[in-house]
Amino acid sequence: MCGIVGYTGPVGGTGALDVVLEGLRRMEYRGYDSAGIVIEADGVLSVDKRAGKLANLEKALTDEPLPLGVTGIGHTRWATHGGPTDANAHPHLSADGRLALVHNGIIENFATLKAELVADGVQFSSETDTEVAAHLVGRAYEDLGDLTEAMRAVCNRLEGAFTLLAVHAGEPGVVVGARRNSPLVVGRGEGANFLGSDVAAFIEYTRQAIELGQDQVVTITKDDVAVIGFDGAPAQTTEYHVDWDASAAEKGGYPNFMMKEIEEQPRAVADTLLGRTDAEGHLVLDELRISESVLRSVDKIVVIACGTSSYAAQVAKYAIEHWCRVPTEVELASEFRYRDPVVNEKTLVVGISQSGETMDTLMAVRHAREQGAKVIAICNTHGSTIPRESDAVIYTHAGPEVAVASTKAFLAQITACYLLGLYLAQLRGNKYEDEVRELLRRLAEVPDQIQQVLDSIEPVRQLGREMANAKVVLFLGRHVGYPVALEGALKLKELAYIHAEGFAAGELKHGPIALIEEGLPVFVVVPSPRGRDSLHGKVVSNIQEIRARGARTIVIAEEGDDDVVPFADTIIRVPQTPTLLAPLVTTVPLQVFACELAMAKGLDVDQPRNLAKSVTVE
Ligand code: G6P
Repeated sequence: MCGIVGYTGPVGGTGALDVVLEGLRRMEYRGYDSAGIVIEADGVLSVDKRAGKLANLEKALTDEPLPLGVTGIGHTRWATHGGPTDANAHPHLSADGRLALVHNGIIENFATLKAELVADGVQFSSETDTEVAAHLVGRAYEDLGDLTEAMRAVCNRLEGAFTLLAVHAGEPGVVVGARRNSPLVVGRGEGANFLGSDVAAFIEYTRQAIELGQDQVVTITKDDVAVIGFDGAPAQTTEYHVDWDASAAEKGGYPNFMMKEIEEQPRAVADTLLGRTDAEGHLVLDELRISESVLRSVDKIVVIACGTSSYAAQVAKYAIEHWCRVPTEVELASEFRYRDPVVNEKTLVVGISQSGETMDTLMAVRHAREQGAKVIAICNTHGSTIPRESDAVIYTHAGPEVAVASTKAFLAQITACYLLGLYLAQLRGNKYEDEVRELLRRLAEVPDQIQQVLDSIEPVRQLGREMANAKVVLFLGRHVGYPVALEGALKLKELAYIHAEGFAAGELKHGPIALIEEGLPVFVVVPSPRGRDSLHGKVVSNIQEIRARGARTIVIAEEGDDDVVPFADTIIRVPQTPTLLAPLVTTVPLQVFACELAMAKGLDVDQPRNLAKSVTVE
C-alpha cells in the first residue's frame, strides 16, 4: 500500500532527491499506482508527481530536474479516494503553495472537513481525502507559525487512519510526521534523519530506528528527532537496531523477488522453528505473554486473517483441533466483527498477518479484545501494529517479503500455527511431552523436504511454461490439502490473471463437476495414504471421476503412492511427511507453477496489477 519517505540532511548537501527516490524504490514492493516527490531547497518547494510506476516519475525528473535540496518527501500511492492520476498523486499543496503533504490511510471525516473548506472558498485540485489535510495544516500554520503545532492541531480534528508527512517553505530543513492507525518509523542517521512507512525506506543509510506510538507527531531536522503526543506532551519512544540488511531486500540473482522468496522457504521455516525448545527439548514460546491458566481455560479458538494468511488459518484449524481438542473456527477478518461473533474471555483469537498492518485484520483484533478475548498475533513484521495491539505475538522469521503475493511468509505462518497448536496441546495436557517432541522432530525435518521439492522442481516449471495459454485451471484438495488447493488457485489468479478455483474434492460432485470438460487442467493435492486411509481412497476416486470426464489431471502425491499412477496425466512427487504437516511441501509446486506460468506470459510477478502488499484500508 502507500509508501512514505522523508529525509533531511546536511546543510550544503544536495542529496535529498537521490535519497528520497532510493527510498521510494525500496517502498515499491508495497504496491502502488502513482508516485510523487517534493524537494525543499532554501525555503522553496518544488513538486513533481506522476501516475503509474516510479519510472514515469524518474523520467519526468530527468527531463525536467528539480532544484537540488537537503530536505524532501516522497510517496507511492495506492488509490483509494480518486483514481490513480497525476492530480491525485501526492504530495498535495496548501492553498498558498507553501506547504506540501503526503498521506497514507483514509481520513474518514474528510467530507465534512472538505465542505467546511469549500464553504470558506478553498479550491481543490484533486479528488483525494489527503488534500483536505494539506489545506488544513497550511491554514493552521498561518495561525500558529509552527509546523509541528499546526500538524498536531489538525491531527486532533482528523478521524480514521493516517500517516502524514509535511514540509513547509517557512521551516527549511524540517520534516514533520504524524501517525494514527498507520505505520511510521524514524531512521536516525549521522547529520541526517529519515522517516519511512517501514525501515526499508532508509535501511541503506542507517540501521538505527525509532518506533513511533499511536497518536504521535515527530519533527526531524538533520541533527534532531523530537516526538510529542497529539495532546502536546513529550512522548516516550523506543530506539532499536534493525537487523535486516539491505541485501536481504534485493533479488540476489533471481529473476524476481518471488522466485527468490520461494527458494528461501526452507530457511523461512527453519528460522521460524529456531529457539523454540529448551535444553530438555520442551516447546517454549517466550513471546506468549498470556498466563498459562488463561490459556488452559480457553474453550474456543477463532483464527482470523485475510488473503493467503487466511489459508494458513485454515491449516491451523485442522492442526489445533486435532492436537488440542479445542473447537476452532476460521473467519475472514473482513467479515469477523460485522457478524457480531460470540467471543468472550474464554475465547482465544489468533490474528495472522504477514505485514501486521492489514486494516481488516487489525479491526478484527481490536473487536476481539473489546469483547474480552485474548489475542495472539502471528506476524512477520516486528513492531507493526497488529502485534503491538495484541496480547502476545509469535513472530514468523521469514525475513522481508518483497513480492506482493505471499509465498515464504505463508509457509512460515503455517509453521507458527503448528508451534502454537503443539504448545497448547502440551500445556493443556492433550499430548504427552514425548508426542510433542516427536512432532517437533518431524517438523524440523521439513525444511530439508522443502529443499528436495525445490531441487526437483524443473518439470513443474516446464509445465508452467507449457500451460501459459490456459484460460481456466481448477485445484482440488481435502483435509489440509483443501486450503493448499485454495492457495494454489489464489496464486494463479494473483500472478497470472487466470481464472482459477480451489474446491474441496468431496464437494466437486455437488456442483463444480459440471465445469469439467475435455482437456481442462485440474490439480489434485492427494493426502498421504498413510493418513486416514478412506480419505486417500476417496480422493483417488475423485481423480478418476474427473478424468473420466476429460480433465487433464495433474496430481501432487507423496513418494511411493502408486494408487494415483493410473489416473494421473502428470505426477508431481513430494516427500513423505506427517499428514498435518503436508501443506509445507505440497504448496511449493503450486507456487512455482503459478510464478513460472506468469513469467512465461511476460507478467510482473512481483507487482501484479491492482494488488497491494499491505492493505491498510477496510
Ligand atoms: C494483501 C496481499 C496478500 C496478503 C493479504 C494479507 O491482499 O496482496 O498477499 O495475503 O494482503 O496480508 P497480511 O499482511 O495481513 O498477511
